Amino acid sequence: MTTWITICDTCKQDGWDAGDMQQTDGEALAALVEAAAKGLQDVKTRRVSCLMGCKKACNVAIQGAGKLNYTLGEFTPSAEAADGIVAYAKAHAGSETGQVPYREWPQVVKGHFVTRHPPLPQDE
Ligand code: FES
Repeated sequence: MTTWITICDTCKQDGWDAGDMQQTDGEALAALVEAAAKGLQDVKTRRVSCLMGCKKACNVAIQGAGKLNYTLGEFTPSAEAADGIVAYAKAHAGSETGQVPYREWPQVVKGHFVTRHPPLPQDE
């Protein structure tokens, strides 16, 4: 089952406006995550503008239908962060419940979890 990585493309870290402001930090992270996930069958990406976690920029959500879903934040837009986010999403896709054992977490996602959302109950 597909795991989706939703990347906030309007996130800006503190000090963002001291740079050239050509793109937001979220846009930079989104481009790196999209490149890292390119060609994967079980992981897809999309961008949204604001996940309402602005103070913890940069933010992403990891979601799969019927699974535990997560938001993660406080990422800097780096290839290392993008690779770790995608590796975690691959493990999420391979998990029946969405729970990934801690020992399988990429180092770069540790300490970045913000929320966990249980799957919705099935309609009766
Ligand atoms: S701007 Fe990224 S969470 Fe609000």
